Amino acid sequence: MSFTAPIPIIGASHVPGLRLDPDWHRKSVFYEVMVRSFVDSNGDGFGDFQGLTSRLDYLQWLGIDGIWVPPFFQSPLKDGGYDVSDYQAVLPEYGTIDDFKHFVSEAHARNMRVMIDLPINHTSDQHPWFLASREDPEGPYGDFYVWRDTDEGYPNVRIIFVDTETSNWAFDSVRRQFYWHRFFSHQPDLNFENPAVHDAVYDIVRFWYDLGVDGVRLDAIPYLYESEEGNGESEPATHQFVRDLRRMVDDEYPGRVLIAEANQWPAETAEYFGTAEEPECHMAFDFPTMPRIFYSLRAQNASELQRVLAEQVEVPPGAAWGVFLRNHDELTLEMVSEEYRQAMYGWYAYDPRMRSNVGIRRRLASLLDNSRAELELANALLLSLPGSPFLYYGDEIGMGDNIWLDDRDASRTPMQWSPDRNAGFSTADPGKLFLPPVQSLVYHYTSVNVEAQMAQASSLLNWMRSVLHVRRQHPVFGLGTITVLETDNESVLAFVRSYGGDGTYHGPKEEHVLCVFSFSHNPVHVTIDAPDWSGAALHDLFGGGQFPTIADDGRFSLTFGTQSFYWLHIGSQA
Ligand code: NOJ
Repeated sequence: MSFTAPIPIIGASHVPGLRLDPDWHRKSVFYEVMVRSFVDSNGDGFGDFQGLTSRLDYLQWLGIDGIWVPPFFQSPLKDGGYDVSDYQAVLPEYGTIDDFKHFVSEAHARNMRVMIDLPINHTSDQHPWFLASREDPEGPYGDFYVWRDTDEGYPNVRIIFVDTETSNWAFDSVRRQFYWHRFFSHQPDLNFENPAVHDAVYDIVRFWYDLGVDGVRLDAIPYLYESEEGNGESEPATHQFVRDLRRMVDDEYPGRVLIAEANQWPAETAEYFGTAEEPECHMAFDFPTMPRIFYSLRAQNASELQRVLAEQVEVPPGAAWGVFLRNHDELTLEMVSEEYRQAMYGWYAYDPRMRSNVGIRRRLASLLDNSRAELELANALLLSLPGSPFLYYGDEIGMGDNIWLDDRDASRTPMQWSPDRNAGFSTADPGKLFLPPVQSLVYHYTSVNVEAQMAQASSLLNWMRSVLHVRRQHPVFGLGTITVLETDNESVLAFVRSYGGDGTYHGPKEEHVLCVFSFSHNPVHVTIDAPDWSGAALHDLFGGGQFPTIADDGRFSLTFGTQSFYWLHIGSQA
């Protein structure tokens, strides 16, 4: 099967019942794909919705259940589209609203869900609301943004984009006042104190749910409100806004989900789940676990990961973490201590060009120096964690990055489909592409591409596909709890995923899987303590091979090659 030539689209049948499963978001593997980077169907140098739609078969083949599409709206594209100038229009380079609707129905026809991304904290300074606000302070949009006569308000609020911004206030020469912005100065923050802003945001959310999307990522959600005393992150009024929004979604769009992008510590992020009585988001990205995976790989030490996983905050029923290794942003190091941050800069960002804000702007394969063992280990761990995994486009083939491009564009280059011109991404004149494809020695598109990896049974792509298909057979990975086990080797992480079965899933009623990972760069032997599982039989989830039974004292031993893992089915105890 080849996915490098345009794939004809056959019949746009909507699958009735796609949303009937209230747990769909907990059982899904998501794939983040930036529209402009995936496939250019009309040769203008930009990826577009028709191109993306033509490769849905590829994503289905890979084993993807849901697609997360970062902002594709009208935008001056000064922040990759997170600077929106019209929330209800598709950027012309990406296509039309009809192209988007077609994309959604074709995804649904393949049993895949679509999640879009709404940056509601701020707009572009080119948005008509901002243009009206700066021109006419007394007009209907005068109060849509946060204006002040001085740049002295909200003194406790930190700057997020430390590489480019020196203040969260910027002076507007038209209104002759300062406006508030948490990100780039061309992204003024909306004023959530103004109820008309709430109405405008609700209209946008309804607009996209009405077009059939299954989920909305709430970009930068902690920053909606600020106060003089607080630090402008997760203020009580922000949570109230999210609770109200959730109520609307449950009433008007049952089965659709909200996912929080809150780069915070676990307890604070978990607040975005709300409670069973007063729910907020269905999902929240897990920011603290991700950097600890990278730390463990280089430190050959699992203890920090073990601590974070053991402390994982309980999530309310029906809610789920979104776990990830990489995304379209820098690998953020905000959620680690200064000591860990410096160690990670030393290991992973030894060239200053690799750094961005408080993080590292590189792709997964180049972070891991293209080590197949590490790529497998990191991905297997990701797919074992509690929550729904989010993969980043191109990481399934080990695409590299280009640190000579600006900011986070380093890892937003065209998808590498084939060794042909422009990596098979576009037929345009190469100079016309929105970004050049990667042509570095190790990751050049002539060697790292989908076509070549499909032709090789042992490729990373085929490995990813087979692991995703094994994972899909075991709902415990999506629905189960986690219990971290003690081991006698600091390089080894062991935990049990357990699913008791609540009768709603038409799969095994009960399942327990032992997941063990060795971060050591040398072979090791480990003894693991599993007191609740004495006498249980262990079988490899991939090939069914039998492993030694857990002893009566709950202990058992395993031997590992370098940087490897096991997924072991825990069978009935004798
Ligand atoms: C979070 C997005 O992930 C990032 O790409 C963007 O720059 C900021 N929000 C600001 O919009």
